[in-house]
Amino acid sequence: MPALYSGRTRHIHVKVQAPNRPVLTTQLYFPGEPANQDDGIFRRELLLENLRDRAGGRQASFTFVLDL
Ligand SMILES: [Fe+2]
Repeated sequence: MPALYSGRTRHIHVKVQAPNRPVLTTQLYFPGEPANQDDGIFRRELLLENLRDRAGGRQASFTFVLDL
């Protein structure tokens, strides 16, 4: 889990790229975080899905749909 820091809700930075296409850089957010509602750039459509505990940490998924 990423650490909290002042002024932002918990998030991770990601980059996605289809072959020979531009890089999409965005952030993904964690469901149930109290600070989501106070973060000015939080977007509900970028919430991680299926967040669950796994050995050694946590696991989640997110489906990216690229317009090719
Ligand atoms: Fe960040």
